[in-house]
Amino acid sequence: MSIKVAPSILSADFSNLEKVIHAINQSQADWIHLDIMDGVFVPNISFGIPVCQAIQKLAQKPLDVHLMIQHPENYLAAFKNAGAAIITVHYEACIHLHRTIQDIKNLGCKAGVALNPHTPIDVLKDSIRDIDVVCVMSVNPGFGGQKFIEHTITKIKELKNLIHQTQSQAIIEVDGGLHDKNRQEVIRSGADVLVVGNFLFQSVDLGEEIKKMKAIQ
Ligand code: DX5
Ligand code: ZN
Repeated sequence: MSIKVAPSILSADFSNLEKVIHAINQSQADWIHLDIMDGVFVPNISFGIPVCQAIQKLAQKPLDVHLMIQHPENYLAAFKNAGAAIITVHYEACIHLHRTIQDIKNLGCKAGVALNPHTPIDVLKDSIRDIDVVCVMSVNPGFGGQKFIEHTITKIKELKNLIHQTQSQAIIEVDGGLHDKNRQEVIRSGADVLVVGNFLFQSVDLGEEIKKMKAIQ
């Protein structure tokens, strides 16, 4: 399966979102990654439902909604109605993760679970068969433009093994600090989806960079 690319718009020009979404629509990107931050679970506030609704009207790609919020279980239907195709909650924010995963699926969305850099892969061993997307955070969540945490490579390999051992259908999404110098190693370690923000929106040609990423074997 060729690598999927999900541009994270957190680093994009919010004064011209229509132009940003149009550029992503024209590219080979697979998803649009929306980083929702509440200023409590992470030390930053980004955007919420109204912006997702506006993007839904413009987007021609599935919306990959990354909830970096406390009590994500209270907002699942709201983000589904705002256009989410994939809803990713943080393992660290869920007391009843199994139930939350079921709730996301019952809404007709793909269920994603994100792990912070300090959270070991084996916390997912009893839920991995229920999960559609595991989002391995390669930066500490809250901001775009941070440095890739090298230990992520080990975690991707461990997660790939867990998926194989359990016959899970989960795919591996890597989120944070990705650029032209580390994306090949991340893909070869077993990543299926690359979330890329700063590198793409700082680049001269977003479409060209995405094409290069998708060509990596
Ligand atoms: C960080 C977000 C990431 C981030 C990725 O908390 O979850 O999606 O925006 O952006 P870059 O590629 O700039 O690290
Ligand atoms: Zn994200």
